[in-house]
Amino acid sequence: MRETAYINGNGGWQMKKELRIMEFLLQHADSHTVSFHMPGHKGSAIYKRFGYDEFLEKFMDCDITEIPGADNLFQAEGIIKNLQDKYRELYGVSHSYLLINGTSGGIIASILATVPAGGQLVMARNCHKSVFNALTLGGIRPVYAYPELIPEYGISGEISCEEIEQCLKDNPEASAVILPSPNYYGVCSDIATIAEVVHRHGKVLIVDQAHGAHLKFFEKDMPLSAEDAGADIVINSIHKTLASFTQSAVLNLHSQRVDRYVLEDKLQAIQSTSPSYLLMASLDINASILELHGPTLMKEWAENLDYFYSEAAKICTMDDSARSQQPSLGFLTGLKNFDRSKINIDSGGLSMTAAQLEEALIKRGIVPELTTGNILMLMTGIGNTREDYDRLLSALKQIIREKRQQLGSSSPSPSDQKGAPHTDSVLMSRARTHLPPPSGKTQLFAIPKKWKRIPLIEAEGKICASSIIPYPPGIPLVCPGEMFDKDTITYIKALRDAGEKVIGVNENGEVAVGFDK
Ligand SMILES: Cc1ncc(COP(=O)(O)O)c(C=O)c1O
Repeated sequence: MRETAYINGNGGWQMKKELRIMEFLLQHADSHTVSFHMPGHKGSAIYKRFGYDEFLEKFMDCDITEIPGADNLFQAEGIIKNLQDKYRELYGVSHSYLLINGTSGGIIASILATVPAGGQLVMARNCHKSVFNALTLGGIRPVYAYPELIPEYGISGEISCEEIEQCLKDNPEASAVILPSPNYYGVCSDIATIAEVVHRHGKVLIVDQAHGAHLKFFEKDMPLSAEDAGADIVINSIHKTLASFTQSAVLNLHSQRVDRYVLEDKLQAIQSTSPSYLLMASLDINASILELHGPTLMKEWAENLDYFYSEAAKICTMDDSARSQQPSLGFLTGLKNFDRSKINIDSGGLSMTAAQLEEALIKRGIVPELTTGNILMLMTGIGNTREDYDRLLSALKQIIREKRQQLGSSSPSPSDQKGAPHTDSVLMSRARTHLPPPSGKTQLFAIPKKWKRIPLIEAEGKICASSIIPYPPGIPLVCPGEMFDKDTITYIKALRDAGEKVIGVNENGEVAVGFDK
């Protein structure tokens, strides 16, 4: 997490500290940075393009509560129901629900609606923290399914249907299965086959499609959306890649296996009782844009991606074939079942960590979504224009040139190429090496009832009482009931020393551990 804001002063991109929130936002709006991070709308241009200027002008006067005629999110019969019906048709499902607490709220409600208190949930270990929060709220016992690791890059790959099948065979008591697809880097799992396995075992499949709300609308060269692949509940962060405001999302239900009234009850329990009409209006605008211009916009997006990847390949081997052996950046394009709207760059070949590459891009006015180890991820969205991709290409070209000049004829040494380890690879190695190994997987202890805070460096062998979550990507590295081990402590310390945000470690470097064992 960056603690500082970058502003475009006279002397170029500089860091500025201690702004008020509003000042920060206004400066950001004036800075004209290119956004390759959330939200997917990328600013007001897309609303203006499709004639929503009046809404933008009257924004504050549109901030209302449930006045007569405004309908009610939790008993939708009027204008909100109409929009929910529009989403139902857009996604081809039986029911759609607007969410104003993000996919996070939808995930928690879905789990509480499908797993009884104290029951079992099969969940991918790389699930978002909202899944872990649902476990705590419902006293639910997790059964972890582990994603494959893509060893070249240290990031997690798909969750295989064999892994899910094994978890279900070993844990017939489990009521539901949840996994993220795509994951943060764009790797999707084979949801169609997983759905078949889960349904054969008589369970409910919930897909966290926070990063894939757009998949349904791409015509080709993209993984199938989880709705089309047969999942029972799919939760989409419309705000991440499409055109609504941050925090707005849509839950799609397409199943007889889930009691929709129980689900609606849990949505009410989890979400704010003062839903923002501005958020819901942005979901409305997004739906209309998709309905009226979806095919055009998706075609433009796909063409921009084709253009970017082919120009980027030229840039990486630029300056003729004699120099093609030169240090360069790599692009993770060959991954199986991959959402290519996430541009993942491997910075190692240029003797840079992803954090250094990010710094170099930010200095050139381009803001990426995420870095970890040697992988930098740029999140494209419906609002990115050809100009954004051109600015990115030109920045990458400059960075490669400068770095090559700096490196001279020397090619990068293997040690130069290594960034900090990646959270996913640390997570997987914890899973493999943790003790004791009944199935070679992380041991869960009872979640401590009594706990205290101790320095992180003294936590080896102690049971975690409050999740440790590097952010982003927001996947808990150590969960309540798991034991702290030496390598993980070293990794967390390295992240903090590098200025990364690690939720669960306080300002004094302390973590919560149980002392009832
Ligand atoms: C995989 C995944 N699932 C769920 C969420 C939560 O989504 P939201 O921000 O819409 O609450 C995130 C957030 O980044 C995420 O990365």
